[in-house]
Amino acid sequence: MPRPRNDTFLRALLREPVPYTPIWIMRQAGRYLPEYNQTRARAGSFLALCRDPDLATEVTLQPLSRYALDAAIVFSDILTIPDAMGLGLYFVDGEGPRFERPLRDESAIRNLAPPDPTGPLRYVLDAVAQVRRSLRDELPLIGFSGSPFTLACYMVEGRGGTDFATLKSMLYNEPSLLHAILAVNARAVAAYLNAQIEHGAQAVMLFDTWGGILTSSAYEEFSLGYMREVLSALPQRYGGERIPTIVFTKGGGLWLERIAASGCDALGLDWTIDIGAARMRVGNRVALQGNLDPAILLSSPATIEKHANAILQAFGHGSGHVFNLGHGVSQFTPTNHVEALVRAVHTASPPYHV
Ligand code: CP3
Repeated sequence: MPRPRNDTFLRALLREPVPYTPIWIMRQAGRYLPEYNQTRARAGSFLALCRDPDLATEVTLQPLSRYALDAAIVFSDILTIPDAMGLGLYFVDGEGPRFERPLRDESAIRNLAPPDPTGPLRYVLDAVAQVRRSLRDELPLIGFSGSPFTLACYMVEGRGGTDFATLKSMLYNEPSLLHAILAVNARAVAAYLNAQIEHGAQAVMLFDTWGGILTSSAYEEFSLGYMREVLSALPQRYGGERIPTIVFTKGGGLWLERIAASGCDALGLDWTIDIGAARMRVGNRVALQGNLDPAILLSSPATIEKHANAILQAFGHGSGHVFNLGHGVSQFTPTNHVEALVRAVHTASPPYHV
């Protein structure tokens, strides 16, 4: 299987030499793009869009035709797994995701089983395969999953946008129940990512959006340990090529050394940490992905350029940096500001690679 024509993203993740710093943007296909909103309206809802491989492929490609991004990420959501476990995912406009049947009692938890990725998650694999074909080996395709812990947060709480008090009370009062959920989630995530790789994903990312709410020791016990389990269940190579892995724990800046030792190839950084300091701490063990504050994209092209340059300079010379935001792009981001960012990174980064 050939590497894509533009393989700077894959090379940077493996810390191989690159001519410039590659960039992609978390939630690059999303509501800040008018064409995304049009396709979403045609689909009827966000979930209908995710479940239609033709439309999911269409929106995956939209940001790539506007911007010189260096990777595609399949359009889907992290909550497809708990939905496939029967929890009943739905979205309330403006309030984010909800579950009809959150996990609140022991019998529901004991009945939980990892879904067969080729069964209820078939639509995701079809989208992965279709996007991969559409890319024609021009750009690499990223597959993804939520981390076992972040999925459990939504599964127990039944919704986001809370302080996860129900989840935390389970963690401290009935840790064995939470461990039972996490063990199922780890098997589900491993099977799901393996299936995405078999259907064409060329790198995979774990979104551990809520790992940062934990104490240092609980992070090891309830989040990182299970991500390690997932990483060890992924193939080193597929079709002759390395499949690099990225772990993004939002709020994980204090634990970078431990995450870097988890078996991943790259760390996703949120915007709170200086990327140069992060590089000093993890050395040559992993690549780094990040970490512009998404709010900077709301400012102006000149300010965006200034902050992008500061991040490139802070990372410094050499490979091992994939430029990204520190979290998903805001729906209120002007489209020309994303263009300014991509141009700034591509224009200013080559001197760091000579
Ligand atoms: O990066 C990409 O372009 C790939 C697509 C992607 C989406 N969600 C599309 C999406 C990815 C990688 C995700 C991951 C995801 N989903 C996470 C982890 C990353 C993060 O942002 O922390 C989480 C926590 C979710 C759960 C979820 N899905 C939330 C909190 C929301 C936002 C709800 C809202 O109203 O803001 C979603 C919906 C969602 N997922 C949207 C998109 C483009 C917006 C939905 C819409 O079109 O209405």
